Amino acid sequence: MKQVIETKGLIKFFDGIHAVDNLSLSIEEGKITGIVGPNGSGKTTLINILSGFYNYDKGEIFFSGAKRKKILPWENKIYGTGRTFQQIRLFNQMKVIDNILVVLTERNPFFALFERHGEYHIKCAEDVLKKVGLYEKRGSYAKDLSYGQQKLLEIGRILAIKADIIFLDEPFAGLFPEMIKRIENIIRELKNENKTVILVEHNMNIIRELCDHLIVMDAGKLLAEGRPEKVLSERAVLEAYLGE
Ligand SMILES: Nc1ncnc2c1ncn2[C@@H]1O[C@H](COP(=O)(O)OP(=O)(O)OP(=O)(O)O)[C@@H](O)[C@H]1O
Ligand SMILES: [Mg+2]
Repeated sequence: MKQVIETKGLIKFFDGIHAVDNLSLSIEEGKITGIVGPNGSGKTTLINILSGFYNYDKGEIFFSGAKRKKILPWENKIYGTGRTFQQIRLFNQMKVIDNILVVLTERNPFFALFERHGEYHIKCAEDVLKKVGLYEKRGSYAKDLSYGQQKLLEIGRILAIKADIIFLDEPFAGLFPEMIKRIENIIRELKNENKTVILVEHNMNIIRELCDHLIVMDAGKLLAEGRPEKVLSERAVLEAYLGE
């Protein structure tokens, strides 16, 4: 099995806090890897580092065996990575379709705003919107979408760049069951296309249903990892995370 991401002794400090503390892990290609852990255990920080949004203080990161240094967020294309944010980040004053178009062209979001988009790009953007079920909303402003639709649009941006490694930071938080189903189906489809999905999630039912592999973090450290049903029955995990 191919490891697409590997970290060795990864450390990230914030004002003396070890947000990520000596973390060594690997992520397998074509699998859905879940990351769980209590609030503040470093899940988002880890994703921020792996997707190039934060630098790290110590350790090493390898993408498909090649050592990777700090990158700029829009250089993710080089590594085939895409991500969503725990706090949704869209261009709210832009139309739904334009939110997709900007990622289809320029990597630097500022310059992307001034790109001209040809018919090919428009067709690609429309196909993505059909996939996430937002085609009918293509002419609406992003700010006028429901919360769930905004989450779908963020996922649509990842589909648009055809990322091979996809980080989703709590994509289900605050959603109604119907929207949860839709996003679950999109994630399953990504797996069928042999994409690698890294999913931060608090809902253990979703984790059990979707994930092939589970990583449990606690205070920045790796507490446990393995198959979800096995990991979620370990005493240390139950004590630290579920408070049982
Ligand atoms: N930009 C930042 N500046 C300072 N401290 C930060 C920053 N980002 C995260 N931290 C701290 O790092 C630790 C890990 O935070 P992080 O957001 O990664 O946790 P999390 O596991 O994603 O939590 P949650 O489940 O609440 O989303 C926390 O103590 C947090 O306060
Ligand atoms: Mg978080």
